[in-house]
Amino acid sequence: MSDAPPIDPALRLGSRAHLPDDLLALLRKYPREVWPEHENLGELAKFWLARHDMFRELCAILAKSAEDLREGRIDPAEFRGFFAPRMRFFLHQLNGHHQIEDHAYFPAFMAAEASLTRGFEILENDHEIIHGDLVRMGEAGNALVESLSQDRDAQMRSAETMSGELTGFLTGLHRHLADEEDIIVPLILDRTEEKLGVK
Ligand SMILES: [Fe+2]
Ligand SMILES: [Fe+2]
Repeated sequence: MSDAPPIDPALRLGSRAHLPDDLLALLRKYPREVWPEHENLGELAKFWLARHDMFRELCAILAKSAEDLREGRIDPAEFRGFFAPRMRFFLHQLNGHHQIEDHAYFPAFMAAEASLTRGFEILENDHEIIHGDLVRMGEAGNALVESLSQDRDAQMRSAETMSGELTGFLTGLHRHLADEEDIIVPLILDRTEEKLGVK
């Protein structure tokens, strides 16, 4: 949100190790162990958690494939066919996922629980940081695919850059997804999707 107060630098993605305790009161009431069997874990929450798992898995697969290219474990032509469509899919889907969260879910959740507003501002700020990362990764991905028609040294340099970008990104993505789940899932379990208006 453009009118949101600035985020404490220590709570920005890449700096924080976890969310502040005052934002995790509902998590203490509904710890992760109870989520899978809880009757209020509705279809939307299950779908949304599965999307998060898909993003974690796909990002790790992309990082591994760039590393395989760098280490000469995969043929460049084979790599191109594997990497390019998955990278495009990943960037597009993650971008769309954040837009839905920013414009539909977060406003509904903040309206339902004002004490979590600062948490959603932190998560929105994460989205801005991640968006910048996605732009940079898209450029690194294009440079890597272009380098496949150049010599081995150029390929290795581009693969090294891509692998570093993806590995660094994966760390931030894990933090963001886990924190987002720790705020949102307990709220859904406490109120139900129906009452939150996100069913
Ligand atoms: Fe998010
Ligand atoms: Fe998300």
